[in-house]
Amino acid sequence: MKKKANWIAILDFGSQYTQLIARRIRELSVYSEIFPYNYSIEKILKHEPAGIILSGGPDSVYADGAPRPDNAIFDTGIPMLGICYGMQLIAEMTGGKTSGSNRREYGYSKLEIDSKSKLLKGLGKKEDVWMSHGDKVTEMPPDFAKTGYTDNIEIGAMENHEKKMYGIQFHPEVHHTPRGMDIFKNFIFDICGLKPNWTMSSFVADSVNQLKTKHKTGNIILGLSGGVDSSVAAVLLNKAFGDRLYSIFINNGLLRKNEETEVVEVFKDKIGLNLIYADYSDLFLKKLEGVTDPEKKRKIIGETFIRCFEKEAKKIGDVKYLAQGTLYPDVIESVSVKGPADVIKSHHNVGGLPDKMDLELIEPLRELFKDEVRAVGRELGIPDIILGRHPFPGPGLAVRVLGDITKERADLLREADAIFIQELKDSDWYNKIWQAFVVLLPVQSVGVMGDERTYENVAAIRAVHSVDGMTADWVKIPYDLLAKVSSRIVNEIKGINRVVYDITSKPPGTIEWE
Ligand code: XMP
Repeated sequence: MKKKANWIAILDFGSQYTQLIARRIRELSVYSEIFPYNYSIEKILKHEPAGIILSGGPDSVYADGAPRPDNAIFDTGIPMLGICYGMQLIAEMTGGKTSGSNRREYGYSKLEIDSKSKLLKGLGKKEDVWMSHGDKVTEMPPDFAKTGYTDNIEIGAMENHEKKMYGIQFHPEVHHTPRGMDIFKNFIFDICGLKPNWTMSSFVADSVNQLKTKHKTGNIILGLSGGVDSSVAAVLLNKAFGDRLYSIFINNGLLRKNEETEVVEVFKDKIGLNLIYADYSDLFLKKLEGVTDPEKKRKIIGETFIRCFEKEAKKIGDVKYLAQGTLYPDVIESVSVKGPADVIKSHHNVGGLPDKMDLELIEPLRELFKDEVRAVGRELGIPDIILGRHPFPGPGLAVRVLGDITKERADLLREADAIFIQELKDSDWYNKIWQAFVVLLPVQSVGVMGDERTYENVAAIRAVHSVDGMTADWVKIPYDLLAKVSSRIVNEIKGINRVVYDITSKPPGTIEWE
């Protein structure tokens, strides 16, 4: 919380859309932060929010034990917007009434709008809005005006402009409410009086200044994987600390083709990071010898990584901090998922590193969403080959060489994967896909090449669309492209004589095969 007086506080009552509210406000270049509904109001007020938003939530406001904020929040005089459950709370806690309805309303609805509304200013007489609720406000608190209604609910929007309290039953944060952003604009710019000044360049400048002032001495270590989060964290910290930052890049022998060369070229040669490249590939492969169980592979890789990282860190003197690329969604979790008691969790530990090493954590991206991290990366001049990369699992190719891992098999996979990715890039499919890769199966099949019978490995190719990796759809790559990839892999790589395409979505499948 550092944007004194120039930000919006969001209290989370467990809606699946709470993070979306925060993102929408930030899209309007205003900083916003989420708190569990029972977070101390005094603590929030210390940082002078210009507005407060009460989120939706799955409970009934009148039910026993339903989440309620501190009463004092209604006396602050700070403009307040209640969305769905948040509106019902305003009603219930300031003298109105809410009740259940026997019909849940879910989906589009037409809102009839009172043109005098300050919150809904500039909208048409009738607008599409997205509803998702069971309860509704049946009686407004004193001195509130009704500003909208639908066929289903009498009070779809209400406000008391003098007290700066506004409630809407629908969800402006979802795309299904087409004028939702206009409602947020009215609230944050007109009603709260904010200026749009949360930009990624202001974030970079502020962060660098704060980091410099806060951590004046001591060295910082960071595990650089070449993925988006650790890369952006490293380059940002490099701006603040220069060579006091030691970025440690460990080659575990399970990287993609040329990955180590690319990472060193970009970060050491072009960007000028103080990069330590440590090649432990033989050690990792030795430890993985004969191991076929996926979870055992992960465990061995995790433990070996920590040991190698510590070994490298010990060579550096005066290390005080461990930096990590933790993002905002890891820091907050909606109360709908976690119990309200431990909603804001501080994200410690990559496998126990700071505990063991007794280091203080620096997490420069902990306020940012993933798209903001990419924007910061662009601002910092990190090339697209890094920022636009598909996600890559920590255990790397170990979970893509199914069964026993040997250097030979990892090399086979690297070659096949490089062909697939190259073809996706050349055909402009790479950026349309969330994640794509090749898997080497522990299966041999018969083939024929020229006059010769072959008995070689089978490779599976996988490409999925996804938003966050939690669910995924397989991608309908054109047959011609699939044919080209298959033909190149089989013809150019000795050791693979058959290619199959994975057409399983998640669920029921997972993205990786192990
Ligand atoms: P699954 O296979 O679980 O993958 O559907 C979802 C996303 O997570 C990645 N993944 C991992 N990432 N360590 C990681 O850092 C792992 O052990 C791991 N396993 C899967 C996967 O690549 C996909 O993006």
